[in-house]
Amino acid sequence: MSRAFNFNAGPAALPLEVLEIAQKELTDFNGTGMSIMEHSHRGKAYDAVHAEAVANMSKLLGLTDDYQVLFLQGGASLQFSQVPLNLLGAGQTADYVNSGAWASKAIKEAKKVGTVNVVADTSKEIPTNMPNYAALNYTKGAAYVHVTSNETIAGTQIKQFPKTEAPLVADMSSDILCRPIDIQNFGLIYAGAQKNLGPSGVTLVVIRKDLIERAPATLPTMLQYRTQAKDNSLYNTPPTFGIYILMLVTRWLLAKGGAAGMEKINQAKADKLYAAFDNSGGYYKGSAVKEFRSTMNVTWRLPSEALEEKFIKEATALKMIGLKGHRDVGGCRASIYNAVGMDAIDALTAFMKDFQAKNG
Ligand SMILES: Cc1ncc(COP(=O)(O)O)c(C=O)c1O
Repeated sequence: MSRAFNFNAGPAALPLEVLEIAQKELTDFNGTGMSIMEHSHRGKAYDAVHAEAVANMSKLLGLTDDYQVLFLQGGASLQFSQVPLNLLGAGQTADYVNSGAWASKAIKEAKKVGTVNVVADTSKEIPTNMPNYAALNYTKGAAYVHVTSNETIAGTQIKQFPKTEAPLVADMSSDILCRPIDIQNFGLIYAGAQKNLGPSGVTLVVIRKDLIERAPATLPTMLQYRTQAKDNSLYNTPPTFGIYILMLVTRWLLAKGGAAGMEKINQAKADKLYAAFDNSGGYYKGSAVKEFRSTMNVTWRLPSEALEEKFIKEATALKMIGLKGHRDVGGCRASIYNAVGMDAIDALTAFMKDFQAKNG
């Protein structure tokens, strides 16, 4: 079997071990004679999967009893609306940091719901940048502060989360569980699963319990966090297969030493890749300000767009997939999520060297 080196931004690489277990269990889950997809979401077999997914996620994130795990649908994009619909009351202000394309989308939706104060805007800065979060002028009495922990398109990542008076809400779609976080610092975190957690179709929300009841009763039932919180994300039919794969990924992560184990591996991967730019004599130029370089989405430029196109074409022929930068910014991007191994980094850095020697 020949697996590609998958640098896709999302949906993205999944651990091979997880795919192999899913393959083995696909037609007969635990001797039940049925796929997990064919089981009732109210039955015993699925119930055990769901419970393990919640328990493993709680363990990986170090959750205390003050927090609840929710598995929702609608992607991280629905959270751009659901967060303000639940947490931004009439007459209140929510603070947002605009650190790039994804934060901008979150802001756009929040503005449809209520008053938004953009406390910093680095979204247009080149090289791509993030503000000094600790030094921002947050609104007194804000409903919450929203940040994007990792800008997937720009390739920037918050290195130190601010301690805010208002509940801190973070879109962690592209770096959830790539490193440990202190959950006590957050009111709510959310992430589409399709980068670090599993397949698309599941959205992880972790909410501090005192925030669950903030939504107005007039909000449609499915948009209220309390609806799924009350029923352990089983108010309606959840994406059972996606949650099953996510559960397998959480098992895999626990076996790797959890978030702390992943952080070491991810840092080593990122260091090696960034060193390839920094040692190229300026041939490969990192797109992000060094201080905020992401360990998950690595972005860079070549001396010309023609060379970038050639680079991506030749890499693709060598089964290095997904290296084209986002269409809005161009250049190159390697998404090196948890499931992307050092073998992929080694293949890419060797190719970079070779390409430069031939095209430098
Ligand atoms: C940081 C970030 N937020 C939100 C999204 C949107 O996620 P979804 O497609 O699950 O709505 C993405 C998708 O790439 C992302 O990278």
